[in-house]
Amino acid sequence: TCPVLTKFQNDCATPTPFLREVANALADDMQAGLAVHGGGDLEMILTYVDALPSGKEEGLFYALDLGGTNFRVRSVQLGGEEERVVATKSEQLSIPQKLMIGTSEELFGFIASKLADFVAKEEPGRFRLEQGRKREIGFTFSFPVHQTSIDSGTLIKWTKGFNVSGMEGKNVVACLNEAMEEHGLDMRVSALVNDGVGTLAGARYWDKDVMAGVILGTGTNACYVEQKNAIPKLQNKSSSGTTIINTEWGGFSKCLPRTIFDQEMDKESLNPGEHLYEKMISGMYLGEIVRRVLLHMFKAGELFGQSVPVKLCTPFAIKSQDLCKMQEDNTDDLSSVGSILYNIFEVEADLKARRRVVEVCDTVVKRGGRLAGAGIVAILERIERETKRLTSGQRTVVAMDGALYERYPQYRQYMQDALVELLGDDLARHVHIKHTKDVSGLGAALLAATNSIY
Ligand code: BG6
Ligand code: GLC
Repeated sequence: TCPVLTKFQNDCATPTPFLREVANALADDMQAGLAVHGGGDLEMILTYVDALPSGKEEGLFYALDLGGTNFRVRSVQLGGEEERVVATKSEQLSIPQKLMIGTSEELFGFIASKLADFVAKEEPGRFRLEQGRKREIGFTFSFPVHQTSIDSGTLIKWTKGFNVSGMEGKNVVACLNEAMEEHGLDMRVSALVNDGVGTLAGARYWDKDVMAGVILGTGTNACYVEQKNAIPKLQNKSSSGTTIINTEWGGFSKCLPRTIFDQEMDKESLNPGEHLYEKMISGMYLGEIVRRVLLHMFKAGELFGQSVPVKLCTPFAIKSQDLCKMQEDNTDDLSSVGSILYNIFEVEADLKARRRVVEVCDTVVKRGGRLAGAGIVAILERIERETKRLTSGQRTVVAMDGALYERYPQYRQYMQDALVELLGDDLARHVHIKHTKDVSGLGAALLAATNSIY
């Protein structure tokens, strides 16, 4: 018997009626956040993106993307309705760990220097900048920002392991502008967007039925198309039409099945008490929850013999990719589980231990995937309330990006199962979760074009 594991499995259970409660609580928090600023757990940020790409955008635009596993720079040549994307070039690299917890000058200096390198290498394309016209950037900044206009906003708080000092409350675009100036770059940010917004905009360019953008990667978020007259906190009450809302759903915290392991991980995180839903469902945290459970099982004598494997005490030693590889092992003796455990924790695990580890992974991933599914249902039901798209049989697309969704088939399946359980076959049939990899850069460039000052 294995009391720690059994209790953990019970605590993590997410039967359908429970998921229904989660979806409803999320919907209530969405409504509360739309009613007044700070009304619920979800920020429900007004993005100032009222017009989504039409396909007619033309010219040369740039995209910067900060906040996922990689930092990216991209240029996009847009050829209008007939030709669409004529050419695009991009470069990506990972942000050095020390910049994630350094100063804003260091972080934005790094970004500006990479942008300067990119522009310096550029070859002449079809579009020439007119005299006096600056190159325009769509800046995907994947953190909660209080937008003050389409091209400016202040950082609300850091998430996902970033903790750059002195930036909260600061204008993100001003920080970038300063750094660009120092690098002699005469460029202009014409759109500041969240990655969920970029994903939604980029995907909508190719597919008119896209109504939401969801990220399941290092972190998680959902952005969707809302009717302006359904947003009480909007200043201009008479406005009609639609706008994009950045929910920052990672901040959801009600009725979540939080175990002692979740609580301890949160306490020791860079943003304790915040983004609790994100800490249960996104890629940065799944491995760490597993590690904490395994350590506890070891201490209770349920795993790995007598002497403590030192690496088992190292935070974030195991990643969601490792969990996935272990879950995919279908050999009789779970040999790759054995070698993964050996490589990461330097521990010899017998078959019984390997099986138990896989059960822990499955429990954490199942809970995460199902909770994510409940979140998507809350978004879809919100859209449905205003549009009746699903009941009228209209195809409705959720554009999805993020490494967790992309590379973890079991997680995807659990998410999809929850979605069908909650929505029912009849409505779920019209929902398409479409993996739109890396379109957020295109989306940001398109929004820079839509909001060009020229
Ligand atoms: C990308 C976005 O396409 O997806 C990033 O542009 C975003 O900003 C990311 O955060 C999610 O990916 P990851 O690397 O966290 O899995
Ligand atoms: C975090 C950020 C959010 C972002 C998400 C996905 O939750 O706060 O802005 O969209 O991660 O990258």
